[in-house]
Amino acid sequence: MSAPPLKVGLAGLGTVGARVAGLLTERADLLAERAQRPIVLTAISARDRNRARGVDLSHLPWCADPVELARRSDVDVVVELMGGAEGPARALVNEALAKGKHVVTANKALIAHHGTGLATVAEKQGVAFNYEAAVAGGIPVIKTLREALFVNRVTRLYGILNGTCNFILTQMSRTKRPFAEVLAEAQALGYAEADPAFDVEGTDAAHKLAILASLAFGSEVDFAAVHCEGITGISPFDIEAARELGYAIKLLAIAEDTGQGVRCHVHPTMVPFGTPIAGVDGAFNAVVIEADPLGKLVLEGPGAGAGPTASAVLSDLADIARGVTLPAFLKPTARLSAGAPAPFAEREGGFYLRFTTMDRPGVMAEIARILAGLGISIESIIQRGRDPAAPVKIVMVTHETREAAMAQALQGIAQANHVVERPCMIRIEAF
Ligand SMILES: NC(=O)c1ccc[n+]([C@@H]2O[C@H](COP(=O)([O-])OP(=O)(O)OC[C@H]3O[C@@H](n4cnc5c(N)ncnc54)[C@H](OP(=O)(O)O)[C@@H]3O)[C@@H](O)[C@H]2O)c1
Repeated sequence: MSAPPLKVGLAGLGTVGARVAGLLTERADLLAERAQRPIVLTAISARDRNRARGVDLSHLPWCADPVELARRSDVDVVVELMGGAEGPARALVNEALAKGKHVVTANKALIAHHGTGLATVAEKQGVAFNYEAAVAGGIPVIKTLREALFVNRVTRLYGILNGTCNFILTQMSRTKRPFAEVLAEAQALGYAEADPAFDVEGTDAAHKLAILASLAFGSEVDFAAVHCEGITGISPFDIEAARELGYAIKLLAIAEDTGQGVRCHVHPTMVPFGTPIAGVDGAFNAVVIEADPLGKLVLEGPGAGAGPTASAVLSDLADIARGVTLPAFLKPTARLSAGAPAPFAEREGGFYLRFTTMDRPGVMAEIARILAGLGISIESIIQRGRDPAAPVKIVMVTHETREAAMAQALQGIAQANHVVERPCMIRIEAF
């Protein structure tokens, strides 16, 4: 084989990085054959030099400071698999692009916060900035949006982008156990981090949605514009009530072109049984893309884990080896729109409301008055149990209602007589 090898500097040898190093070593022949040139590791960096990585890397130069990788003459591509929106990951990627090296990363936090700026530097330098592994792990959704759907106009995109939350909601549904208990199980099984806040509060899914929305709608990456709520307030009662109403509860990430800007939101959502998204269980991810002229495309698969994520990293490296350098966000960053996003307060949809109240005369009339005063009409009401001495749970489903009205209604209900805890609200999407 005559083509010179593509030389890779790898920062981060954890879950994903160690697997990438392993595949580069074990599948060297297959990669060289398919990319038509060898792809070789030439230098590495991590924190702990003595930790076993499951692959022999002892022959490779070790960089105590990962930023050193960007300055080495024997590195063509920097693969950043450390994580974090700031700190060493940002410093390394900045330096690598500035030095004219290609970059491959799985770091959604970095891209969500600094993606447009980094893509601008990559463009100026004529190098690739590839990040397939950053969204939905092994599902090739970046390639799909950036390449396969080239001629399409995307109208809406939604999906399950956080496997930890989907695992927890699935287990809560199967076992009827509360959130905290199932979270502890997810942590024991390695599906949730010791600090699960990023996942369960929706931030991780919001990072990924900000990236997908930029690709789908040709706008700058705008993490601050994503409305974000997590799953910590969902109870087994809500999951059971949703089931009786014909819905599964999923943490959905939704980006839609409203005609007056793009609206991006992440929150628990009731989705009808029978839709593709309702059947995606466990740690799996799924993305649904609605586009013209394509129609509806459903992608489902493993959204995290060493193998699926490393597979996506290797696909990015193969593109670079073959000389493919595309604009990071489909078009040059100067052409990305920076327009105002569509306000979330103007979104309309059906809502599920659950509140707990003492069973006293007049309670329902007061709540009905609050809702009617805000123009909210009720589709159905279910009351669970009757006990003058103990609180009862009441479930309401509304017709189409504006977010702004619902926010006011929730405040009013929380302050109503005899309501004993903060009401729970879940949005309903018909799809
Ligand atoms: N895990 C997944 O399933 C998954 C899926 C999609 C995307 N991602 C993304 O992939 C990236 C890596 O995730 P991961 O799960 O592989 O993380 P991880 O297991 O925690 O590994 C992080 C690696 O970075 C190294 N590191 C951290 N700080 C460093 C520093 N200052 N200097 C040098 N090395 C440093 C660590 O070194 P030591 O090992 O020596 O401590 C470790 O090898 C993150 O951006 C993550 O969001 C992960």
